[in-house]
Amino acid sequence: MASTVGSSWGLKDPSLVKTQGLIDGQWVDAQEGAKITVTNPATDEELGTVPDMGLEETKQAIEAASKAFKSWSKTTAKQRHDLLMKFYALMQENTEDLARIITLENGKGLAEAKGEHAYSASFIEWFAEEAVRTYGEVIPSPFPQIRNVVVKQPIGVVSILTPWNFPSAMITRKLGAALAAGCTAVIKPPPETPFSALALAELASRAGIPPGVINIVPTQKNVNEVGREMCQNTIVKKVSFTGSTPVAKMLYGLAASTLKKVSIEAGGNAPFIVFADGDIDAAVEGAIMCKFRGSGQTCVCANRIYVQSSVYADFASKLADRVAQFKVGNGLEEKTTHGPLIHDKAIEKVSRHVDDAVSRGAQVLIGGKRIEGPGSFYAPTVLSDVPRDALINDEETFGPVAALVKFETEEEVIKMANDTPVGLAGYFYSRDVGRVWRVAEALEVGMVGTNTGTISQAVIPFGGVKESGLGREGSHGIDEYMNTKFIAFGGL
Ligand code: SIN
Repeated sequence: MASTVGSSWGLKDPSLVKTQGLIDGQWVDAQEGAKITVTNPATDEELGTVPDMGLEETKQAIEAASKAFKSWSKTTAKQRHDLLMKFYALMQENTEDLARIITLENGKGLAEAKGEHAYSASFIEWFAEEAVRTYGEVIPSPFPQIRNVVVKQPIGVVSILTPWNFPSAMITRKLGAALAAGCTAVIKPPPETPFSALALAELASRAGIPPGVINIVPTQKNVNEVGREMCQNTIVKKVSFTGSTPVAKMLYGLAASTLKKVSIEAGGNAPFIVFADGDIDAAVEGAIMCKFRGSGQTCVCANRIYVQSSVYADFASKLADRVAQFKVGNGLEEKTTHGPLIHDKAIEKVSRHVDDAVSRGAQVLIGGKRIEGPGSFYAPTVLSDVPRDALINDEETFGPVAALVKFETEEEVIKMANDTPVGLAGYFYSRDVGRVWRVAEALEVGMVGTNTGTISQAVIPFGGVKESGLGREGSHGIDEYMNTKFIAFGGL
């Protein structure tokens, strides 16, 4: 029976809205009929429901992926390239609808949702192109009768667990690589934003990607047992997760029981450093992009903004002026630049960080409070004179709060920037070429932006060091979905 969910979403093609999970090419409900209610964070209105699946459905999805792997892994790289390019073309044709779905379930403004969509599609395009370049090697042998050959083979069934802050791009970053490599997948989308995942699966199926290659198991109340199965089932050969560091550690532990290959992109606490020799106006623009993208809800968002004392006042007032120009509201409205946070729990954390900083002497230059009314809105905030012992310097805020800390010397700021257990991204502004090299090398992070607040692209090795993760996605990340096999050709 056709679902009526989505009929009021203003889509050109409402049939992109799927309200069931996907197992072995069949759209299915949860066995026990349980449902997840998905709400629009800008209005608190119900968008629709998807099934709340459990252990049994997860096992079925893994079995289906295993069955599909037998033939999908035998397709040629060129066949996979062509199918992925068809999928990419369909994503492009449906840009307006897919971006609208992102806005409805995540809240980000439509312009930003289109940006996410383009980013998302670029992973499919990139990995289609990578599929045909999974080269092996011939290694000269010290023994005359031996020839050494190395081949790459798809790893098998992959479990993919993704967050709500990029409902589309975090799926394609993993799925694109998995499919290109010849792997099949079971995806657990976040309960807050499952519709983007389901729409992508529908388009992949229209592109001709066979049943069972992509399976989707939405879940909420059974998340622990579903997650455990996705990490421990012996059929699954790899787990790829993006989300918080505590959950990453738990999943890593579960996957360790069967020594699965794991890719993890976990939390960040990015330093953003403005040296006095940097271009201050450019640094303000960089901070706007880097701090307030997704209303501050990205793992690579600046979390601690360090400004050298001689330019501190100038930077702070320019940043507050720019933030005053934001239009916060429902992402579907054209004038909106920044949408809501995902839910009230997110607001609670942001409020806790702001209240703590203020209680320790920070000044609120702008914002500093929840915006009352429907939806989970928090006013974009700039705090100055944030003391070093404020909570916000230790924990990722994941919200629209720019916390400015003053520093004097390069040595001092590097020490503060690295004083955290995580290390995903770091940014700084300086025009001194020696300093640019020194600081880029000294920051304990996986990715550095120098004189830019924007680093994310499909072509870069995305990932962190310390407790921010394992492995790299994008770029040559297809290798994470392949086994390297050595074959010695002897008896020549
Ligand atoms: C994330 O927040 O997890 C990803 C951000 C990005 O890819 O830019």
